[in-house]
Amino acid sequence: MTSLLVLNGPNLNLLGQRQPEVYGRTSLADIDEMCHAHGEKIGVKIECLQSNHEGALIDAIHAAKGKHAGILLNAGAYTHTSIALMDAIASVEIPTIELHLSNVHAREEFRHTSYIAKYALGVICGFGSHGYILGIDALKKHVEG
Ligand code: DQA
Repeated sequence: MTSLLVLNGPNLNLLGQRQPEVYGRTSLADIDEMCHAHGEKIGVKIECLQSNHEGALIDAIHAAKGKHAGILLNAGAYTHTSIALMDAIASVEIPTIELHLSNVHAREEFRHTSYIAKYALGVICGFGSHGYILGIDALKKHVEG
């Protein structure tokens, strides 16, 4: 069975309480549950991880090699700053979708830059928590055809 990693970066543990007008009222635990339920429905194994630490996210990407067929990555603010995360994605060669709950292109200029996008299969943004479902479906289609 195809296995996918849903990886969330800094401050996403605060979803639901953090700027709900921007990120919505759904908690990360609810999103994880939604991803697991959707995975079960479509026959995909889902592992969800979150870290506020850049190195831990890099370790998780390295550990995905040979274990997960795709990564759905909301790297939070590290998207806009982290060459190290970009290098990790480029190194493991696992199809990765960059995801954001908000439409980063309609926000501050600094959020328009992404180091992840260069090596991403595609980018999903602006659909709130539903973006995770879109990302899982897109990865399944990409991996299984
Ligand atoms: C985010 C967008 C980023 O710019 C921001 O730093 C986040 C969340 C999103 O999901 O919309 O932490 O990745």
